[in-house]
Amino acid sequence: MGLGDTTVCLDGTWVRTDAELVEVYKRRITAHGFSGRTMFYRDERQHQSKIEQYLELLGRTVSPGESLLDVGCGYGSLAPHLPDCRYVGIDLVPELVAHARQAHSGYEFRVQNVADCTETFDWCVLLGVVNAIPNPERVLRLSWQRCVRGLLVDFVDQEKLDPSTANLNRFDLRECRSSIAQLGARTVEMHTTSSVWTIFLARKAVSSRSIVDPAGT
Ligand SMILES: C[S@@+](CC[C@H](N)C(=O)[O-])C[C@H]1O[C@@H](n2cnc3c(N)ncnc32)[C@H](O)[C@@H]1O
Repeated sequence: MGLGDTTVCLDGTWVRTDAELVEVYKRRITAHGFSGRTMFYRDERQHQSKIEQYLELLGRTVSPGESLLDVGCGYGSLAPHLPDCRYVGIDLVPELVAHARQAHSGYEFRVQNVADCTETFDWCVLLGVVNAIPNPERVLRLSWQRCVRGLLVDFVDQEKLDPSTANLNRFDLRECRSSIAQLGARTVEMHTTSSVWTIFLARKAVSSRSIVDPAGT
């Protein structure tokens, strides 16, 4: 499996389209509620540990007042812990977005596909997203187009995930690195974790004339 795939096995079913993906999440919400299990984590602890790893990186990356697009925000777990920034979370699944709005008032959450997002942000975050979608290369490329300073994304390392596990994409990390470099990253940091995923922080060369203002102010 790799970045260029166009299908992913989730819950023992091959998923090819965003509409099919939304149905998978609706079934998982019914089964597991708004929990890490629904998001394909083993348990809440594993979910929290990834959030903390991202927060550690974001804390030393995002400057106060910068804007951040959380692509595939799920039910909004990241938003309330972020450093000072102008946050927008988007997700395909209306039920997840409704829950995020209810649980975390004061943050902007939208039902939106990143393919339909036209604004630019300083940073994009793809927390746990590319591992559970049929089109990782496309979503990565679209998210890259939405950010001015850079992007954080995690990939499940094919060397670490048990091959008998049918769920999820698994990646050759060298291929991921080179794909991100080809998108035009100035630097790519790879942060290995004690879990099966590695977090990539890719930075763009930012021109001093770049203007980012999703609020249009
Ligand atoms: C594994 S969940 C992770 C959710 C959240 N980031 C977290 O870790 O709690 C991946 C999410 O990405 C969303 N997603 C997948 N493709 C997307 C797209 N093209 N645009 C926006 N959201 C997308 C899914 O609906 C799903 O909620």
